[in-house]
Amino acid sequence: MRIVLVGPPGAGKGTQAAFLAGNLSIPHISTGDLFRANISQGTELGKQAKAYMDAGNLVPDEVTIGMAKDRMEQPDAEHGFLLDGFPRNVAQAKALDTMLEAADMKLDAVLDLEVPEDEVVKRIAGRRICRNDSAHVFHVTYSPPKQAGVCDVCGGELYQRDDDSEETVRTRLEVYHTQTEPIIDHYRAQGLVVTISALGKVNEVTDRAMAALRGEHAA
Ligand code: AP5
Ligand code: MG
Repeated sequence: MRIVLVGPPGAGKGTQAAFLAGNLSIPHISTGDLFRANISQGTELGKQAKAYMDAGNLVPDEVTIGMAKDRMEQPDAEHGFLLDGFPRNVAQAKALDTMLEAADMKLDAVLDLEVPEDEVVKRIAGRRICRNDSAHVFHVTYSPPKQAGVCDVCGGELYQRDDDSEETVRTRLEVYHTQTEPIIDHYRAQGLVVTISALGKVNEVTDRAMAALRGEHAA
């Protein structure tokens, strides 16, 4: 399956992607995680992305689209992928359409995670991620690690993302509404959008998402 996950910052895209990608045996491709890996490795791409990310703005399409395309062309993504955080504006969605068309492929679904703004603010405020891999995500209250400050998966140090400050979160939410939400209409016109509530326990949301992807009504 080829799936796009969309939703505001802090909606739980990364959290859900880990379970959904596992259930569906497809790779989880997060452009945010790719940028963060580049930043921690000190690459040129990471240096280009950092200032935009720290300010809560989108990294320019010229940088982002090429990076996402390279990742989607890796052998593990040949039979499907779960995109998290890409596309993030209509230009990226159109670039993805073109890319898929050229490869004679198509998307199966765009899963839209709906969460009220006060809840995303709480989720972001308590989020802690792992220094070794930003896909290892915890929350101080909702999904605490077994030992405070230590990643359950790999033992790495947990920290708060640089862009999770209150001011940057406000910018990220605004960028989501103005630049990312329009992709939902772009995909609605293609009949691909399934919207679910992302409220409730993590496993309840995963069950709801799996049911929606199977074409069943959301529970
Ligand atoms: P990115 O990393 O994609 O950030 P984002 O979209 O803002 O989303 P988040 O990662 O903040 O939230 P999430 O939905 O993954 O939530 P999570 O699962 O962690 O992008 C960062 C930046 O990179 C962008 O601002 C931009 O600069 C750049 N960028 C990336 N892609 C780009 C692109 N395509 N184009 C241009 N620029 C790009 O969950 C949040 C917290 O909630 C966690 O603590 C988790 O434990 C908790 N939680 C999850 N589910 C639940 C639940 N059901 N109940 C309670 N708590 C929960
Ligand atoms: Mg994420």
